[in-house]
Amino acid sequence: MNPLFRHIRKTVFALAAALAVGVLLSVLARIPDDSLRLIRLGQWYALCATAFLYIALLISPLYVAFSSLPGRAYAIRARRAIGVSAYFFTLLHSSIEFFGLLGGLGGLRFLPNKYLIAISLSFTALVILSLMAATSFDRMVILLGRRWKQLHRFVYLAGLLIIIHALLLGTHYANLSRTIPRVSIAALIFLLLLESIRIYKFLRARRADIH
Ligand code: HEM
Repeated sequence: MNPLFRHIRKTVFALAAALAVGVLLSVLARIPDDSLRLIRLGQWYALCATAFLYIALLISPLYVAFSSLPGRAYAIRARRAIGVSAYFFTLLHSSIEFFGLLGGLGGLRFLPNKYLIAISLSFTALVILSLMAATSFDRMVILLGRRWKQLHRFVYLAGLLIIIHALLLGTHYANLSRTIPRVSIAALIFLLLLESIRIYKFLRARRADIH
């Protein structure tokens, strides 16, 4: 087996860890104020989590739509590690926001309804992502069989909840005409297009099987 292929998951984990440290060092170097540092760190880890989750979701529909695209085996093998890395950034973001900035459970009493709704949605997404991360090992895939795929389909619900959460709370999403929201919207439209192609191809193949 090609060594890069064999170690692709470890490579993804190493890149995610390096990115987390890089973000931390960059925030420490550029921002002098401690509380502003924590705010920025929470925001950038949220964006990293979303980007990793997006890439994990993109891989299957991308290769269904463009079957001759190179690197398919690598991407499929790396996908679970990309998902677990998304979870790693999610944990960093949630911990910073919940314990560092909102003041833990006690702090919830002082939050307006908009915040409470956004945090309930993100908490649900966090539970879904935790279940997915806990069942992401080879042994769990074999143990759960068909149910593994059914469980992992909940990622789409988590994705929807995260979008609403980011739109309600995210500083970077307060003005949708800025770069980060524009890139996010374009990326979302691209993913939805690829998913439509995947569903279309699936239905066409099923119809061909019936006839
Ligand atoms: C219960 C756990 C969570 C809490 C308490 C929480 C809290 C927050 C808060 C307070 C903000 C506003 C930050 C700001 O703009 O300064 C925020 C933004 C955001 N959160 Fe969460 N969050 C949680 C879970 C998640 C999860 C699971 C995701 C999934 C990736 C996520 C993704 C985001 C994104 C993308 C933003 C926008 C960041 C930005 O505008 O820069 N959050 N969250």
